[in-house]
Parts: sequence; C-alpha cells; structure tokens
Amino acid sequence: MTADHEHKDAPVLFFDSGVGGLSILAPAQKLLPHMPVVYAADRAGYPYGTKSEAEIAARVPALLGRLVERYRPRIAVIACNTASTIALSFVRAALDIPVVGTVPAIKPAALSSRTRVIGVLGTEATVRQPYVDRLAAEHGADCTVLRHGSAALVALAEAKLRGEALNPAVARDALAGLLDQPRGEEMDSVVLACTHFPLVQQELEAAAQELGTRPLAFLHGGEGIARRIAFLNGEAPWPQNPAPGSAVFTRMDPDVEALQPALKSYGLTQINAL
Ligand code: DGL
Repeated sequence: MTADHEHKDAPVLFFDSGVGGLSILAPAQKLLPHMPVVYAADRAGYPYGTKSEAEIAARVPALLGRLVERYRPRIAVIACNTASTIALSFVRAALDIPVVGTVPAIKPAALSSRTRVIGVLGTEATVRQPYVDRLAAEHGADCTVLRHGSAALVALAEAKLRGEALNPAVARDALAGLLDQPRGEEMDSVVLACTHFPLVQQELEAAAQELGTRPLAFLHGGEGIARRIAFLNGEAPWPQNPAPGSAVFTRMDPDVEALQPALKSYGLTQINAL
C-alpha cells in the first residue's frame, strides 16, 4: 500500500507564524511549478520573535503534527527562522516525513563579504540563538557578525501584504540597529534572518540609500531551500494539474481577508481555518 504522502497529489507544506514564509514559497514555486502547496500561518501564535524558547519549542512541533495529519504532505518546510533555530530537531523527531528548516544565510554571506563585517537581521528570538553562534563560528570565524532583532520589521511586512501604507522609519531603524554597532559602518552584507524580511527588501534598500551606507548585499536562503525540496522529492512525480494552493490559518480574523489579494498572487486561492 502507498502511504498518503507518497501520492503524487501530496502537497509540500510551508509553515510560518504569518506571511513570511511566502518569501520561501516563491522561489520553490519558480523551481517546481507543478508542486501542490499548503501554506500554513500560525496567526494564533504570531508573532514568534518575541516569544520564549520554551513557548516555541512546545508549540511548533505539536502544530506541525496536526498539520501533517490533516494534509498528509510529502515534505514539510519550516519557512521561519525563529521556529527552525529553536525547534527544528524536535519537529524532525516528531514527524515521519522530511523536514526542511530555514536558518540564517551566514555561510553565503561569509563567502562573499569583502569587508568581513556581516549583519544578521532577524527576530529578537532568532538573533540570540546558539544555532546562530554555531553558524557564525563555523562559517564566519574571521568575520565580525553583528546581530539585531526587530519585531517592528516583521509587522511592517505583514502590513505591506495587507496593502497598508508603510512608515519608512521602521526599515531605517532596523538597519540602524546594525549600523550603529562597533564596525557597523564597514558592514557590506545583511543576512535577512527572518522570512518576513525579504518581503520588505525594497524598503530596506531605500533605507540604506537614505542612511548613506556602503553598498549592501541582502542575502537569504530561499533559493537554496527550493533546491533542497527538489532534492528531497527526488524522482517522486508531481501532478500535471496541481490543485489550487491553499492557505490555512490557526486563527481567522479580519486581517486574513485583507491578505487575500497577496495570497492570491502566490496562487493561494483556497483559504481555510485549521
Ligand atoms: N517569519 C518568522 C521568522 O522567520 C517569524 C516572525 C515572527 O513571528 O516574529 O523568524
């Protein structure tokens, strides 16, 4: 007998606290256009970045367990740095399908930085993780790795996808949080270590210009994750006509309605509550 998750219609599950995971979904859709998608946003738990390690470690594996039971995905992608840097090993232990995590792109930043000063912009929870210490030690031992956590930038990305007017001071302050640290003015690479942040990269670029920084490279792991999904899927077939993408929310509220046009632009036309 074939397990559900081996069926050709089995989706890939993308998981985040909110809309951030769309920055991971987009490159995966580009690489794998026939991939059926379930995008899950834990609105009831949002934001993750201001929560404790214990809260995230308890919440995320349990929720992914429920989602996997309900949607029988072939692969689960934790499209969230906060959840991945805290709970990836617990999720892997709890599930019997491949799990892809999203962790700060310090390695490519260290490979390309000329000044050897790298900024890591994430949530407050992510930037304090030992996981980030390990990545910095392993890949950027000769680099100064500056870190800054911004909950306001997460909220900015959510507001942008709801189509609201944005306050440019938010992106400016987030970047200044790195630039104002010792050696900050030498920074030439910024790791977007929260999946919400590539959604506001344009705003960050405008802020960099306004602040008169040196040219900054903004890096994140989206394309690498897309390749990882393709690799893990191997030869398993994709459907010729995949079902419309669905977005599932752990809480329905008026913001979900405001997000619908943005979700639709990622092919997520079915909106469900978990
Ligand atoms: N998008 C998430 C991340 O990559 C977390 C945002 C939040 O809920 O604080 O870290």
